[in-house]
Amino acid sequence: MTPVRLALRGDLVDFTADPGLDDLHPGGVRHRPDHWLLIEDGRIVGAQTEAPGPDWRCVDHRGRLILPGFIDTHVHSAQTDVIGSWGTELLDWLQTHTFPAELRMAEPVHAMQLSQLFLHGLLSHGTTSACVFPTVHTASVEALFEAAKSRGMRIIGGKVLMDRHAPEDLCDESLDAARRETEELIERWHGLGRIAYALTPRFAPTSSDAQLALTGELLRSAPDLYLQTHVAENRAEVQWVAELFPQARSYLDVYAQHDLIGPRSIFAHGIWLDDADRRVLHDAGAQIAFCPSSNLFLGSGLFDWHLARDAGVAVSLASDVGGGTSLSMRRTMLDAYRVQAGLQRKVTAWALLHAATRGAAQSLHLSQEIGSLEAGTLADVCIWDWAHTPLALRRQTLARDLHDKLFAWLTLGDEGDLVETWIAGVRQYVRD
Ligand code: GUN
Ligand code: ZN
Repeated sequence: MTPVRLALRGDLVDFTADPGLDDLHPGGVRHRPDHWLLIEDGRIVGAQTEAPGPDWRCVDHRGRLILPGFIDTHVHSAQTDVIGSWGTELLDWLQTHTFPAELRMAEPVHAMQLSQLFLHGLLSHGTTSACVFPTVHTASVEALFEAAKSRGMRIIGGKVLMDRHAPEDLCDESLDAARRETEELIERWHGLGRIAYALTPRFAPTSSDAQLALTGELLRSAPDLYLQTHVAENRAEVQWVAELFPQARSYLDVYAQHDLIGPRSIFAHGIWLDDADRRVLHDAGAQIAFCPSSNLFLGSGLFDWHLARDAGVAVSLASDVGGGTSLSMRRTMLDAYRVQAGLQRKVTAWALLHAATRGAAQSLHLSQEIGSLEAGTLADVCIWDWAHTPLALRRQTLARDLHDKLFAWLTLGDEGDLVETWIAGVRQYVRD
């Protein structure tokens, strides 16, 4: 059969190596101005300056920016309804706003509506892949995965595990029920198309030792499973964990004791970790999902990216909606810059863009599929205007170099900049 051939024209920017955190002129930045990105049967096959022949469907976006789709490594599909809830820190926020919203996900029709809204929200902000927490309810997982499958999106997620310190209807009925539901979901969804399963104990306070032990057992039961949870986000939370798990050296150690820290483990936040914790994460090849918007909004603290870098810990970027206030990874990048600036440190636009694309893909062991415009990867790509408001247009004309252009783009841009989002060579979002 003849392949489906697609060529997208624009300014291509991606990475071939890690640019580091603060080097303005690193290796590894690949800028191919005014190129055609060639896609065959959903996969990138190359890029060139000449227009391809007549058997290619050509979409001409000259003058626009073409980037790999963003990867959000920690976000909650059931929390769109609580974005911007006023006045609380983490533990109070969970009880007051978040648990009530999550309770509604038991209802399959509501779960599907919210999952559709959520995935459309990701695509309309330039995010093509995500690590997602639905809720404890099987219906919320089914809805997320069904909606992702119909869009062909790379989604990593799984049923949230909780068995204490939450409303009864948000807790697993029993250890056996949690095991059975999880095993059934893994069986049905893990490795189906672009869906991967992540064991998802919410955080140490809402899982008993027995449930964390079950999680460790399940993690070892099937190859390539991910694990996602929260760690060391808020000082009151850290104190509570110390009281609940007096035998653990630290919050992270609770997870270590149950063998939950491995190369496919994603720990959200990690603000209040110490050097020993960072060594454990590094040695295991686990990653931290840095959630700056959420950390600022909930007043959780300032994550020190340089400390993590110095310890060799992989750091990706995440919106953490609904603690975070936007699904936009550009807003997330800008907030990450602000958090580091608040610590008297700087991160480049290269570091931010890399963390949201190739860096996350590598930490997730998915760089053969996502995170760059490399030949062989799936064509999850976004077409962006460099600017569309008078202020941003003027700022772009004054930009000194590509870094300045990109940093101004992510600072001044809004969602009106996104023109199209493509998933595996299929257009899944078009600006009105
Ligand atoms: N810790 C436990 N659950 C949550 C959650 O839903 N959001 C955030 N930000 N932190 C958590
Ligand atoms: Zn979270």
